[in-house]
This record gives sequence, C-alpha cells and structure tokens, in this order.
Amino acid sequence: LHGQTVLGLETSCDETAAAVVRLEDGRAQVLSSVVGSQVAQHAPFGGVVPEIAARAHVESIDAIVERALAEAGLGYGDLTGVAATAGPGLVGGVMVGLSFGKAVALARSLPLVAVNHLEGHAVSARLGADIPYPFLLLLVSGGHCQLLEVAGVGACRRLGSTIDDAAGEAFDKIAKTLGLPYPGGPALETLAEGGDAARFVLPRMLLGRKDCDFSFSGLKTAAARIAEGLNTDAERRDLAAAVQAAIAGQLAERSDRAMKGYAQGHLGRGLRFVVAGGVAANRTVRARLTETAQARGFSFHAPPLAYCTDNAAMIALAGAERLALGLADGLDAVARPRWPL
Ligand code: KG4
Ligand code: ZN
Repeated sequence: LHGQTVLGLETSCDETAAAVVRLEDGRAQVLSSVVGSQVAQHAPFGGVVPEIAARAHVESIDAIVERALAEAGLGYGDLTGVAATAGPGLVGGVMVGLSFGKAVALARSLPLVAVNHLEGHAVSARLGADIPYPFLLLLVSGGHCQLLEVAGVGACRRLGSTIDDAAGEAFDKIAKTLGLPYPGGPALETLAEGGDAARFVLPRMLLGRKDCDFSFSGLKTAAARIAEGLNTDAERRDLAAAVQAAIAGQLAERSDRAMKGYAQGHLGRGLRFVVAGGVAANRTVRARLTETAQARGFSFHAPPLAYCTDNAAMIALAGAERLALGLADGLDAVARPRWPL
C-alpha cells in the first residue's frame, strides 16, 4: 500500500469543514484542516436552526474546500479518495457535504467513503498521536454520550449510552438557564473558573449502577431550580462549578465501570482509554478522566483541542482508514439523520 491522501468533508451540524489527511503505514498526518463556524448566524436563536445551517453550508463549502486544498498545497489530482459525513446529523446539512463529495468522486474518478460522524470522533485522537487499536472510548459531544470498545473502523461495540440527554446537551441546556450564550459548554467552563463546586448539592445520577449508561435529566432539572433563585454572580459561578463537577463526576464514574470490564477482557494487553467529542475539550472533564484512567492502569488519550469539536480531519482519517481496508461506498450512498454505530 502506498498510503492514502483523502479530502474530508463535514457538514452534519453547524460547522462547514474540509480537510486533507495523509495516512501512511497507519500513521496520520493532517495536511490541512479548515473549519468555518456558523455560530454567529445561529446565536440570535439560542441554538442551531437546521434551515439556516443547510443554506450556510451550501454558501460556504466551495470556498472552504478550495482553502483546504490550497493549505495542503495539493490539487484534486493528488487525492486518492473523498470522505464525507453521511450522518447522523441534520439531514439538510449532511446532504450538502455528501453531494459535494459525490460530485468530486464522480468528476475525478475517486473512491467515495460515506463516513459515520461518530466513527470520525472515534478515530479523532489518532490525528494527534499514534494510538493503536483496540481502545476504550468515551464519546461525549452535543448529540452523543456513549462508551465504546473500538477495535478499528467498522469495528465498534457499544457498552453503554445516555438514557436521556447527551453530556454536551446537558452543558448547553444548563448554560442557558444560567443566562449564558450559545454554545453553552465553553461559556459554562469559563464562568465556573474559580467557583466553589461544593456550595450546591446536585443529584448524582445512576451512581453505583452496574451498567455503563448515562443520565443527565435529573441534574438539569435540579440545576434549573437552583438557578431560578440565584441573585449574585458569585452564586452563578459556584453553580456552574458544581454542574461541571457533577457532569465530570458522572463521566468518570461510568468510565470507571467500563474500564473495569474492559480490563478483564483484555488481560495482558495494552489498556488505552480515549475521550473524544466536543465535551473532551473541557479541562475539568479531562482531569477527572485522567485520574480515573491512571487508577485503573489505563493510558489516557484525548485529541488535540482542535479535533475535539466537529472538524473534517477526523472524517478524512476515518475515510482513509476505510479505504486502506478496501471499504469504499457507492455514489448511491444516502444521507442518514440517524445512524447508530
Ligand atoms: O463534537 P461537537 O462539536 O458536536 C457534536 O457532534 O455534537 O460537540 C459540541 C458540544 C456542545 O454541546 C458544546 O457545548 C460542547 O460540545 N463543548 C463543551 C466544551 N466545548 C464544547 N462542553 C463543555 N466544556 C467545553 N469546553
Ligand atoms: Zn460531532
């Protein structure tokens, strides 16, 4: 195999992204990664508006792809494949990137890979370091919260997932009740700085349960009730710190359970724990998970910050790894709003 040079496209939510990734001997090199954010267009509405997102993807994808190729110093002729997110996500947006990918594949006679966005997050830590398969993965984003055993692309086994909200969704919704702007997660982290997490007592959901599922709705309700009665900025700061600690605590406790089971099934092999997705950008979350992994004898890995939130480099890498295994898709690949791993 002579390696893969893949153009990746990501349009499943509110980021229009294109990237070029080179994969050689199992090692990834990001040649370019361009992310065009639509945050300013959605902010007045307090969240992502699907129609606005789809239109914005159409308007910007051309220029974003051109930039990604220019920054990589490559033309279409240098590519060995095209990978586009085909779901899960806002289907109007997914169709934009997938159609663009199909057009490039058809015009340039390149193989197309229709990538599952979650598989992109699953491989994202491999963009920054050489992390061999298999590993235990905590995927925490705005739409997803699950623990997976990852043996390679196309070989993920789900150990548990949220029974209500995703962790990022909990951050976003609670941030809103604290009067913070969208997107709430990063804003809540900033507000929580220096706060006293012990000032408010919040429910510890599913504590001690023997599975690897998650639940955040009780925390959300409790936090909203407390937020209503707050008067000072110091109180809001302390509540933000308490919420952040509670979310990080649950992620660590559930991951601890998963590590225990995973370690038994992988005796004598390298134990690796990876956290990926937008919430992996949170420093408190990372710190708690690092401690948990260390205590269980796992090495801890997280993608570089730029590859935690949505990007196209992770889509390009998932595509390149699939192409290396001979897994291409037809031009009849469909956009899927729902697509569990
Ligand atoms: O992976 P991502 O960009 O998009 C999805 O696939 O959902 O994740 C976005 C989510 C949002 O809910 C956002 O609030 C959260 O990740 N997030 C954070 C932080 N940065 C992003 N949550 C907490 N702390 C952060 N620093
Ligand atoms: Zn995502």
